[in-house]
This record gives sequence, C-alpha cells and structure tokens, in this order.
Amino acid sequence: MALVAPSILSADFGRLHDDIVDVLDRGAHWVHVDVMDGRFVPNITIGPVVTKAAARAAKANGHDALVDVHLMIVEPDRYVQDFRDAGAELITVHAEACLHLHRSIQAIKATGAKAGVSLNPHTPESVLDYVLDDLDLVLVMSVNPGFGGQSLIETSFTKIERLRREIDRRANGVLIEVDGGVKADNARRFTEAGAHVLVSGSGVFNASDRTAAIAALAAA
Ligand code: DX5
Ligand code: ZN
Repeated sequence: MALVAPSILSADFGRLHDDIVDVLDRGAHWVHVDVMDGRFVPNITIGPVVTKAAARAAKANGHDALVDVHLMIVEPDRYVQDFRDAGAELITVHAEACLHLHRSIQAIKATGAKAGVSLNPHTPESVLDYVLDDLDLVLVMSVNPGFGGQSLIETSFTKIERLRREIDRRANGVLIEVDGGVKADNARRFTEAGAHVLVSGSGVFNASDRTAAIAALAAA
C-alpha cells in the first residue's frame, strides 16, 4: 500500500481546480506541487499564487489532501514562508540547492510546515546522515528534475533500499517519497524497495482511466 501524490505538472492548468478535485475524488491522497525556477532546473513552472489555488482545491469537495510542495529552486529559504502562506503543509527543498541544509530544514519547520529534502539521481543518501532525524520525508528523484514524462533511472531503487534500511534502523518514522517516471506498471518496484509515497504526474493525469491508475499505485 502506498500514498499517491499526483503531480499537478501534468494537469490541465486551464481547469486546474477541477482536475485536482477529480484525482482526489478518484482516490489520490496528496497534491504534489512542482515549483521550478529556471535556475536549479531548466524549466519554469509555478509560484505561490498557483500553489494557493492548488491548496484550495486540495481542501475542496470534502477532501483534506496534504499540500506537498517540491521546491526545485535555488536559495529556497527566501521563499519558504511564501509557500507556507499559500497553503503548503509539507515543503521539500533540494540538498543540492542548499549550502546550509540544516538551516534550511529549520527554516521550514519554523513556519509550522513538515520538512522534506530531495536528492537528485547522482546525490548519495549519505548527505542526509546528520539531518535525517530532523526530517519528515526524503524525496528520492528517480529522474533528473525539470520535466514530467521522463523514464526512470534504475539506480534509484538502490538508493531507496539503502535509505529505507537506515530509516528503519533509526526508527525515526521518516517517509520516503519517490518522484519521476512512476507509473501503475512499475509502482511495485518502488514500494518493494521501500518507498511510502508515490508521486506520479503523467501516470495519473494522462491515464486513459485515472481511477484505475490511482488504484494500481495505491495498491502497489
Ligand atoms: C520532475 C517533477 C515531477 C514530475 C513527475 O521534475 O518533480 O514531479 O512532474 O512527472 P512524471 O510522473 O510524469 O514523471
Ligand atoms: Zn516533484
């Protein structure tokens, strides 16, 4: 069993509210918001304004989906409060974007949000050795961040396995989320490696049968 976090990057932004409510009605658990700045990654997406609209949709129609904001931006400390004010409940920064990662984690927690750190495919999980116990979640990128619809990178499974072993050893309750190339037909590989939360953009929003796609991800 996994938590399913559709990435709104693949939603129809012309009907964003309805698209988010639709995937929640069909059983998705979290709303994953991909923020890109054209500097940390070669793409620009959305900021706090659209995040606020997504956060409103996450609580519409009787839903109470967690608003999961993935910051793929440089100097994220500058914007953490803005995203919190927009409704972010979990804020994830990239280890590679933070010179002082410990400080960035504390800055997130000071807003009252849960704190996550994301690792690019080349980044070893050992960079988290001295901050792992401070985190709520580790986000393992299974593609190079920047775009939806890419194919997964195989070494991600080894990283998830190693992280899960360390988290279980410490029994600190940190969740592992995986992001990039996750589909109904490969989801079980991620959960067997140790992932708790599956982000899927194209695999949910572009699926011909969204209900079936979400059910398959959740059952993985
Ligand atoms: C990648 C983003 C992902 C992406 C996932 O840079 O962080 O959340 O939208 O998209 P899919 O599921 O299509 O690979
Ligand atoms: Zn993401």
